[in-house]
Amino acid sequence: MKRKLILYRSKYGSTKEYIKELADRIEGDCVISDVKKFSGNLKDYSIIILGSCTYMGRIMIVDFIRENKKILKSRKVYLFSVGLIPEDSEASRQSFELIPEEVRRNLLGYRKLPGRISVAKLNFFERMILKMTKAKLEDLVNYSHVGLIIDDLKESGILKGA
Ligand SMILES: Cc1cc2nc3c(=O)[nH]c(=O)nc-3n(C[C@H](O)[C@H](O)[C@H](O)COP(=O)(O)O)c2cc1C
Repeated sequence: MKRKLILYRSKYGSTKEYIKELADRIEGDCVISDVKKFSGNLKDYSIIILGSCTYMGRIMIVDFIRENKKILKSRKVYLFSVGLIPEDSEASRQSFELIPEEVRRNLLGYRKLPGRISVAKLNFFERMILKMTKAKLEDLVNYSHVGLIIDDLKESGILKGA
């Protein structure tokens, strides 16, 4: 039986919102967990969807991917990241390349989805970084991007309906 697992890392919630929307649109049983709280065994799942926020050039789930790369490269894995730097920028390409090559090569697909900054929630350190980078304080979260992930999953045969 093909078992599906969705693991995510989200500091301020926008990635988790995308995950909820995605889970609602995936048919059939699917285990969903914050990657830090996941206590199951990756080996029990044949399909693994990973979603992660990006901070300071790092797709934050990268540590988990590194620790579990042997299993992940033998599974059907889809990855998406969330951030405010556009997907086609050099910085985003560099963040993606921090993912171990053997996992990257094996991915069913990858997308970067637009995120959100809520200044009121940020700590002092994060506010200083934002001042230095002059990042725009935007809310670009848009669930239509989840539809693109669903299309990718259909095309790769993981979901029915392509
Ligand atoms: C201190 C700080 C650093 C950030 N660094 C990046 C970055 O390197 N690349 C990027 O695309 N977005 C960056 N962002 C934007 C976040 O990825 C974006 O706010 C995202 O929606 C956060 O996801 P979360 O709400 O799930 O934590 C940064 C935001 C903050 C506050």
